[in-house]
Formats: sequence, structure tokens, C-alpha cells
Amino acid sequence: MNILLLGSGGREHALALKMSQSPLCGQLFIAPGNAGTAQCGQNVNMGVSEFEKIKSFCLDNAIDLVMPGSEEALVNGIYDFFKKDPALQHIPVMGPSQEGAQLEGSKAYAKLFMERHKIPTAGYREFNAQNYEEGLAYIQQHSLPIVLKADGLAAGKGVVITTSYEEAAEEFQQMIKSAKFGEASKTVVIEEFLTGIELSVFAITDGHSYKILPEAKDYKRIGEGDKGLNTGGMGAVSPVPFADAAFMKKVEDKVIRPTIEGLSKEGIVYHGFVFFGLINVGGEPFVIEYNCRMGDPETEVVMPRLKNDLLELFNAVSAGKLNEQTIYADERAAATVMLVSAGYPEAYEKNKVIKGIPAPGRDQIVFHAGTRQEGNEVLTNGGRVLAITSLAANLSMALAHSVQTAEQIAFDGKGYRRDIGYEFV
Ligand code: AMP
Ligand code: GLY
Repeated sequence: MNILLLGSGGREHALALKMSQSPLCGQLFIAPGNAGTAQCGQNVNMGVSEFEKIKSFCLDNAIDLVMPGSEEALVNGIYDFFKKDPALQHIPVMGPSQEGAQLEGSKAYAKLFMERHKIPTAGYREFNAQNYEEGLAYIQQHSLPIVLKADGLAAGKGVVITTSYEEAAEEFQQMIKSAKFGEASKTVVIEEFLTGIELSVFAITDGHSYKILPEAKDYKRIGEGDKGLNTGGMGAVSPVPFADAAFMKKVEDKVIRPTIEGLSKEGIVYHGFVFFGLINVGGEPFVIEYNCRMGDPETEVVMPRLKNDLLELFNAVSAGKLNEQTIYADERAAATVMLVSAGYPEAYEKNKVIKGIPAPGRDQIVFHAGTRQEGNEVLTNGGRVLAITSLAANLSMALAHSVQTAEQIAFDGKGYRRDIGYEFV
């Protein structure tokens, strides 16, 4: 089968490699891709939301499956675009309908969905310009800290945790009155702060049944010891030691099954990956957020541990026969360490020559995130540049191996964290 994968990050390199390893894989195209995805298939110069171009490309190249890597195309309605077009409707899109993608695209939508299906999440209220004064009063009687969330997509920056009433009111004012995050913060969710340790759980669904993939934990802060600014993710580990059978049973019973059944009961079309951003509060899972795609950098540890043929799983999703599949995970631990550009997550420079990327081995793969090929050279082309994933008998060995390679790879301004998975080693 011929496949079109949309995206250009480390997640897409990990998905491209995994799909390219399947005997079912015919031609694999990645749009726009990076220097790493070019080793797994053919990069195509096309944006992930250029639907008309994507349509022509799919028809010209006999594409049999489209896999959107990030939320962007899904929230923009790529699934519905394909289903509504008689020329395209035979091509499965591995992701939810635009309505299903609202689980990620709108925090208020996700909160109401969880309320309807009694899925554990932080207590909250939703405010906009109409009930602004009520929101200010709500803040004053709320316990501290107070979490404010812009309803819509805000490039990962729409969540602000405030520790005083003044700060919360100021942030609330900026979001609603000064459109701090544009349209995204016209509605604001104010919620209770939950204390615990976070993890990312992934499922794949055909809309009726679901399968749980290996879980992961990502490290979002730029600095070691979880200090400094939030980033897209500086590294990840899988498995997560506290996600034992008893905890995962609670996750399945209280979160995953009610979510999939809820979608199905409400007639919300959803195929593909569901990402549950969870927090473990005293042994109980609570949902912090839903995403309608895989995580980045979580995918860089989840895919290497997944033993199944990914395209076989995708075919089972398309056929509505996911219930016939069993997920197999590598027993080994995986750690990924992200190499980032100087300045990231703020302004950073690009076009630095990268040296010393080792060839993939049995227990280590360097995934490309922000890279591009120019002649014989690989250049930096983003804030997150490479994700070094290692597999080993335990987490500390996997981490040590990734850190060793992180030291060997060279580019101007290279930065990384040496403490990925620190709570568990
Ligand atoms: P989100 O964009 O929804 O992933 O939120 C970003 C980060 O904010 C999460 O990964 C959490 O670390 C934190 N966060 C969000 N909501 C809460 C909450 N209710 N309690 C504590 N931390 C939260
Ligand atoms: N690593 C978190 C995310 O992909 O949203």
C-alpha cells in the first residue's frame, strides 16, 4: 500500500521508520518531512493543511492511506475533507473527524465530554466575554494555585498556572479582554490544580474497540530537574514504572473505555490514535488533556517498543476489526534524549551543520526532528533537532547510551538534558 504521512518532526520520523519496516509498505511519502524521513521514503514539498494539493497528490500517486502526524490537519478537518469527496472517500485517514479532533482543539469541548461520561478530571468552569465579571468573582473564591487554559490551540502555550489571585485575574483579563492567544483565548477554562506525576497513555481505536499502546512520560521543561521554560518536550521514557497493572486497569476502566464508548454513543467519528495526558493523583488517574494524535517525543520511545506491524494495525482500524489484534511490546526500556538549538524554546538559529550522527543500530536510533539535507550535509532546521532513542535492559542503561551519543553528535549551540527519567533511575 502507498502511504502519505503528514508532518516533519521526530514523531513523523519514528512513524515513517515503523511503517517502512512493514512488508505491507509500498511507496511511502512524507510531506514535508525532514532529513531523517527522507531515509525512510520520499519527502514531498507540501504543507500538512494544503488539502487541495494533498488531494491531487493522493490521486496522482495512488495513495491508499493518509496518516496525519500532528493535530493541525485533523483540527482543520482533513478527515471530513476526504470523506465528503467522492474521489477521495475510499482513502482511509488515520485520525478523527473534525468533531472528534475537538477533544484536542477545544479544552471546553473536552471538559464537557468528560463531564458527560464521568471521566475523572480537574473541577472547572468555562468563561468568556459574556460572563467575564462572574469569572473574576470565581477566581477570588478559588483555591490556589489556579490553572487558566485558553480554550483553543495556542501552540502549547495556552496553559498558565498562577499562584496568586492578582496574577490569575491579570492573566484572565489578558486572555479574554486583550486576546493574549487570539481566538484561542476568547473562551477560558479555569480549573483546579492537581498534584501528582504525569504520564502519557496512548490508544488506537477503530471507533468501537481499542488497543492500548506502551505508555510513556515526557519531560517538558528546558532545564535539568524540570526547571525553566516549557518546551515541546526534551525527552521521554517508556515504560513508566508507576504505571503498573493495577494503575493501568484504573486508566482503562475510568478513562479509556468511557472515552471510546462515549465517542461511539455520541456518534463522533474517531479512528486512529488517542493520546490521554494523565496525572496520577495518589494512585488515581485524572485527565489533564486529550490529544488526537501521538505525542512528540513520546512516539520516539513508543514506536521502537511496539512489536506489531503498524500498517497491519492501521488496516484493522480501517476494516473495523481492531478487536482481532493483540499489542506486543518490547520488554526493554526506551529513553529518548532531544538535542536542541541554542536559545530554544525562545528564538534560535538554524542552518548549523550537524556532525557525528551514528547509523541506526539494533538498540539505538537517532530520529530527526528539525533537520534538513543540503547536498551531503545535514543542517539544523528547528528548535528540537534530533531525538536519540536507546533501548536497554533498564532505563538507566538506555539513558546512559543516549547521553553518550548526545555528547558525540556535534552542532553549534547544541543543548540537551542528561536527566531524562530521573525519578525512575
Ligand atoms: P496542557 O497544555 O493541557 O498539556 O497543559 C500543560 C501542562 O500544564 C500540563 O502538562 C501540566 O503539567 C500542567 N497542567 C495542566 N492542567 C493542570 C492541572 N489541572 N493541574 C496541574 N497541572 C496542570
Ligand atoms: N509531548 C507532548 C505532546 O506531544 O503534546
